Amino acid sequence: MESSENITMQKISKPKKFTTKEEFVRDVLIGLQSNPKKLSSKYFYDEKGDKLFQEIMNLEEYYLTNCEYEILNTHKSAILELFESNNRPFQLIELGAGDGLKTKVLLQEFSNNKAHFEYSPIDISPHVLQTLTNDLQQLLPNLKVKSFQGDYFKALAATKRQNGWRKVVLFLGSNIGNFSIEQTHNFLTKIKDLLSPGDLLFIGFDLKKEPEVILSAYNDKKGVTRAFNLNLLSRINAELDGNFDLNKFEHYPVYDPQSGECRSYLVSKENQQVRLEALEETISFHKWESIHTEISRKFSTKEIHELAERSGFKLLENFYDSKGFFVDSVWLKK
Ligand code: AVJ
Repeated sequence: MESSENITMQKISKPKKFTTKEEFVRDVLIGLQSNPKKLSSKYFYDEKGDKLFQEIMNLEEYYLTNCEYEILNTHKSAILELFESNNRPFQLIELGAGDGLKTKVLLQEFSNNKAHFEYSPIDISPHVLQTLTNDLQQLLPNLKVKSFQGDYFKALAATKRQNGWRKVVLFLGSNIGNFSIEQTHNFLTKIKDLLSPGDLLFIGFDLKKEPEVILSAYNDKKGVTRAFNLNLLSRINAELDGNFDLNKFEHYPVYDPQSGECRSYLVSKENQQVRLEALEETISFHKWESIHTEISRKFSTKEIHELAERSGFKLLENFYDSKGFFVDSVWLKK
């Protein structure tokens, strides 16, 4: 009777070894005691960080979101044709669904065309998932949504295949750019292992381009990206009872056109000691010592082809925006 019957939330428990908080504590301590110092970009996304990232996506300089939106909007009917080839119904599984703004373009198109499919967003944040499923219920009351909260791979493994259906995994936004080369290979191989021949991976990559264009996207004039990077220190202050003085650190991104890595740092402007009271630890910084906080890797078309082949997929098609800044690549599990 009610459309909410279409919506179920399945909880996938986190690995037993660490709770999220214990993992955070461990990673922060190891990272700040390393030489050189580092913190993982996955910790940007607390409530404040989620908001700042939303703001980043609306910035002039941050071209990625608009480019991918344009790709999906322009090619939505060709994309549907690929997804439902041989008239097979499909399970659309999205890793890191977020607010689903871009995905809604596809969901709307698929629904308008009465495509035979179900949508399973997977996200670490229960809050994000709840908002997304509520939104979708309003927008597309007939859409079947089965959401999964938790680790991508556990959730992907838990999406039971319906008889004869194909799985289509979405990984948008160049989120893959945050991984090291090794993590990239591991990630793609794990996905391949969880899929069956004939399944698809639809994956977004930000492309190598004019270095200044890339650098500005991570060093916007309004300072939103600066605040986003510094928010890592606020989060540590809040959750580990730290006393980082945000005025004593500088946001500094660099772009290396050969590796395609845009790397962000927080640089200490003076000799200083930071106390993490909850851990009973003190961290020392030399003047101009830095913390590496993020990699946002950019790819060439050739590198994307090689990645697909190397991880057991066949690249079926690349969809580009009109500026050729971004690509959504469709890979078939062999
Ligand atoms: C969400 C990982 C795609 O690397 O471009 C935006 C995050 N960091 N500005 C990216 C981000 C700084 C973003 N991804």
